[in-house]
Order: sequence, then C-alpha cells, then structure tokens
Amino acid sequence: MKHSITRRRVLAAGAGLAAALAVPGWASETTVGLRRRAIPGSGARIPVIGLGSWLTFDAGSVPHRRDNVRAVMQAFFDRGGGMIDSSPMYSSAQEVIGAGLSKIDNNQGLISATKVWIPGRGTGIWQMESALKLWGLESFDLLYVHNLLDWETHLPWMREWQQQGKVSHIGVTTSHGRRHGELLDVMRKEKMDCVQFTYNILDREAERRLLPVAQERGLAVIINRPFRGGSLFRRVRNQVLPGWAADIGIENWAQYFLKFIVSHPAVTCAIPATSQVAHLHENMGALSGPLPDERMRQQMIRYYESL
Ligand SMILES: NC(=O)c1ccc[n+]([C@@H]2O[C@H](COP(=O)([O-])OP(=O)(O)OC[C@H]3O[C@@H](n4cnc5c(N)ncnc54)[C@H](OP(=O)(O)O)[C@@H]3O)[C@@H](O)[C@H]2O)c1
Repeated sequence: MKHSITRRRVLAAGAGLAAALAVPGWASETTVGLRRRAIPGSGARIPVIGLGSWLTFDAGSVPHRRDNVRAVMQAFFDRGGGMIDSSPMYSSAQEVIGAGLSKIDNNQGLISATKVWIPGRGTGIWQMESALKLWGLESFDLLYVHNLLDWETHLPWMREWQQQGKVSHIGVTTSHGRRHGELLDVMRKEKMDCVQFTYNILDREAERRLLPVAQERGLAVIINRPFRGGSLFRRVRNQVLPGWAADIGIENWAQYFLKFIVSHPAVTCAIPATSQVAHLHENMGALSGPLPDERMRQQMIRYYESL
C-alpha cells in the first residue's frame, strides 16, 4: 500500500528503521498505548482522534495566525495524532496546513485527508493536483468527494488515482441529515474505503442506518462535527462532570463528547477542530484510557440531556 506517510517515513529513515516504519500500525515509543482503529479495507491503523480544519485553520497569510495553526499541529503530533482533515472549501486551510507541515519536524505520523469540491472530472483532477502541491505531498492517505458533489463523476478517476498510488483510500462525505438517503445509496452500491458524516451525543441519527451499513460494507467511518461545531459546550458551561466519568478516565467535557463517539464500534476516527493548543490537549486525552460500554453510553446521553 502506498501511503504518503509511509513514503515520507521511508525517505526520512535509515534502512532498518525504514522497514519498521513502513509497517502500517507502527507506533513510536511516545504513541504506544494510544487507541488506534484499522481501516477495514487496508488494515492501516489510525489514531481514533484526528484534527479538523474548517474555520480554525483558515489563517490566510496573517503570520501570527499561521504560527498559531502550526503550534496546534505541533501539539497534535506531539500527542500522537495522525489524521488532518481538510478541503478546498476551507479557504486557505490547505495552504496553511502545507506551510505548517514544512516547518515542523514531528509530522511523521501524518494521515492526510482532503476532498474534491467542484463539479467535473477535469476540474476535480486539477483541484486535487493543486491540493497535493498545497500540502507538499505526492499522495493523499484519504480522498473524499465533499458533500457528495458530483460523486458519479469523481469516484471513477479517484479509483484510477488509487491504482496509480496517488491516494490510498477513497470515499464520500456529508454533514447534512437530509443527504443520508443518498449517502446510504452510495455506501451500498459503490466500491470505496471510507465515509465521513456527523455523529455526536445530540445528533445520533447515524446510529439507525449509517453506522450499521458502514460496518456491513467494511467502510472506515470518520466523524465530523463531533462537538456540533462547538455548540455542545454551551449546555455544560459551569457544569461539573458527573463523578462516574472518572471511571473511564474522562477529565473534561471534550473527552466526554469524544469518548462517547469513539466508543461506538463502527467509528474509526473523530476529527474535532480547534484553534487552541489548550483545547487540542483536552481533545487528545480521548486517545487513551478506558471507553464507556453500552450501558454507560446510554447514561452519558441521559446525563447530558438532563442538563
Ligand atoms: N461535509 C464535510 O466534509 C464536513 C462537514 C463539516 C465538518 N467537516 C470536518 O469536520 C471537522 C470538525 O467539524 P467542525 O469544525 O464543524 O466542528 P467541531 O469539531 O464539532 O467543533 C469545532 C469547535 O469546537 C471548539 N472546540 C474544540 N475543542 C474544544 C474544547 N476542548 N473545548 C471547547 N471548545 C472546543 C472549537 O473552538 P476553539 O477553536 O476555540 O477550540 C471550534 O469552534 C471540520 O473542521 C472539518 O474538517 C467536514
């Protein structure tokens, strides 16, 4: 399997180490004990908490804002993070990510994920060739069709890219409940590796059909809007965590929300976005320690909804 990450590791490492690093699922000393899940189609194992980039990474060319994104990315990799998710829709985010990657030296764990967001085959290919340049990569680990836009046109050339080693895994995304019917059709009929949609402690529609179908079809599931765009925090402002949250190593509300998501057996990775290093550290805490069982997951819903 040709991973951009695997290739970078091989280039960076000596021969013996390179062989070890090229094995999917390899983990450094600092990342041992952090929770990973396999992408069913390839077996590549990825950390269950990733990093979104909508709004938070749109730093444009403002130096202090770019420095801030770089600090968030650096902390993400320091904490054993892998997947960074972006899209041409997120304005300058891809360029800012590329600039960040070129300046930090701890990015060996990167799992690159972006999306095509334009109709038409030629324009789609052009957009993703540009994205590779913006990120400074030769290939992407995950490539999606953003919000299912012209997916019938894009999936065929994305499969060609897969054959050519320019992308490892392909799929589609949405964050809109009203698109779930169409998303289910695509998941059932099309050959792909991954799917991205919304699931959080309040938006649980995905439990009914999307998550079971993803499991049946052997699709990796990446979860967007894990904090409902940040609005989940409003209800818990000035609220203390319930005592039993400590039983599963939950230290803050961010971990409460994230552990709820990644404890679903069909979920591969959640991708919270943040512009703050302190928040990043809170979020990455959900990579380790116990997860709630089904009984506790129900208790978490009841407690949150009672606030
Ligand atoms: N259709 C699609 O493909 C699609 C659609 C939507 C989203 N996505 C992807 O999914 C990612 C995540 O979704 P999202 O950005 O919409 O929303 P989100 O991750 O649910 O929420 C992000 C918000 O949560 C806040 N936050 C993060 N960590 C926090 C913490 N520990 N404590 C308090 N607040 C915290 C952030 O503010 P601070 O900056 O202050 O931390 C930010 O405003 C996106 O960035 C994007 O990459 C994809």
